[in-house]
Amino acid sequence: MNASPPRRPSAAQRYLFMLGLGLLIGLVATVMVGRALQARQDPFPSSLMQVMERQLAQLHTAQQHNRCSLADSQPRLQSLRLLSNDLDLAFPGLKDSAGFQQHGSQLRATLNSALASPAVDCAALATVVAQLQQDCRACHQDFR
Ligand code: HEC
Repeated sequence: MNASPPRRPSAAQRYLFMLGLGLLIGLVATVMVGRALQARQDPFPSSLMQVMERQLAQLHTAQQHNRCSLADSQPRLQSLRLLSNDLDLAFPGLKDSAGFQQHGSQLRATLNSALASPAVDCAALATVVAQLQQDCRACHQDFR
């Protein structure tokens, strides 16, 4: 009988296996480190901003689609107004800066007047949206 000797993996196969194993371990480690870093971060600031972003986007879309009644715009503006109260809470490290306060206060002022004298048509609502975008941008330019 002439039993064939057990085949041993070639050098190339071993090399590929080690490469795959290395990549896998690297991937797992990266995910773990990413998760750990994420867990250390407070999700509140970016969540607040994301919700404000969505509210403003909804307002903008409504205006672009000619849905400019009070029923369309007021809820968005009210949400944004309430959310803008929490800027200090979300950014404790920035809240003592005069510039930050000024930008926050400017945003609230825009929202106050938009709520006090509501936009009567789409042209007026477009102006409000542009003002709000400008208020967001002003703070981001200085503090983001
Ligand atoms: C008074 C300052 C200020 C105002 C006003 C402001 N922001 Fe921000 N925003 C910040 C800061 C500071 C960051 C950076 C946050 C961070 O990286 O942790 C930020 C980040 C963001 C982000 C990215 C969030 C993320 O996922 O990290 C979005 C989206 C955003 N803002 C939307 C808006 C919108 C929309 C408005 C206006 C309705 C607005 N912001 C008004 C200060 C402000």
